[in-house]
Amino acid sequence: MADATYDGPASQDLVTWDRIADRYIELADGRATSSFHHLTDFFHERLRPLSGRSVLDVGCGHGWLAQSLAALGAEASGVDGSESMIAQARSRYPGLTFHTADLVDGLGSARAVAGYDAMVARFSLQCIADLDRLLRDAVVALRPGGLFLASMPHPAFYMRERVEDPVTRERYRKVTGYLEHETRILPDFGGHRYFHRPVSWYVNAFARHGLHLDDMREPPQHPDTAGDRGQDEWTDFETWWSTIPVFLGLCFRKAPTG
Ligand SMILES: C[S@@+](CC[C@H](N)C(=O)[O-])C[C@H]1O[C@@H](n2cnc3c(N)ncnc32)[C@H](O)[C@@H]1O
Repeated sequence: MADATYDGPASQDLVTWDRIADRYIELADGRATSSFHHLTDFFHERLRPLSGRSVLDVGCGHGWLAQSLAALGAEASGVDGSESMIAQARSRYPGLTFHTADLVDGLGSARAVAGYDAMVARFSLQCIADLDRLLRDAVVALRPGGLFLASMPHPAFYMRERVEDPVTRERYRKVTGYLEHETRILPDFGGHRYFHRPVSWYVNAFARHGLHLDDMREPPQHPDTAGDRGQDEWTDFETWWSTIPVFLGLCFRKAPTG
């Protein structure tokens, strides 16, 4: 993870996402075993029954998650700030509605459709420079009792260096400066800004906007080297690797009223 090389306006992030959209789609798309899909089960579990439920995919990229929810019966739609991502989403899934909005400014035209049963934000919140207006809009646009589900790289462990002490053979991830907010450039897909915030920051920011933590998941990490081998065939190193989660799932709920 490199240090941020620019400190410009948040709108610059969308220029970057337009530039790297094709590369992102190529890498993230269609790999059922990809770690990108690990928390999809969590979303499905918390959204069930999906049939007839209106779900907004926040930072939807090329729309694959919205489509997968629609295939299970949800009335799914998406919003993203990258014109390239939205163009791909519209061309791939013409039956679904996709809005374009810089989420730093809130939900834009997706805001008008009030009463969502749920929102999902899969690996997008950590890319958004300021979440205040988005959360303000989200709590209004969700129905009472509605859910906001998010997944993201685990702020404590994602891309923290893996270390194996050559003398003691002790293994650990090197976590530094966890409580500091930091802007970094993630090299994956061609370089985009990543806003590091501690887990407690997310929990408290959502709570301030009336969205309270209902569930949290830290799934064991599938070792990159393990491929399709079952857990009982993993090496000692792979078993250790799996014990440190690098993805985080959060489920927030708007209070039911009345
Ligand atoms: C890591 S991708 C995740 C995409 C999709 N949710 C998925 O699971 O494949 C992050 C997404 O956030 C979007 N994004 C980043 N900053 C944004 C902003 N300020 N407003 C709207 N979308 C933004 C990007 O365009 C990109 O599609």
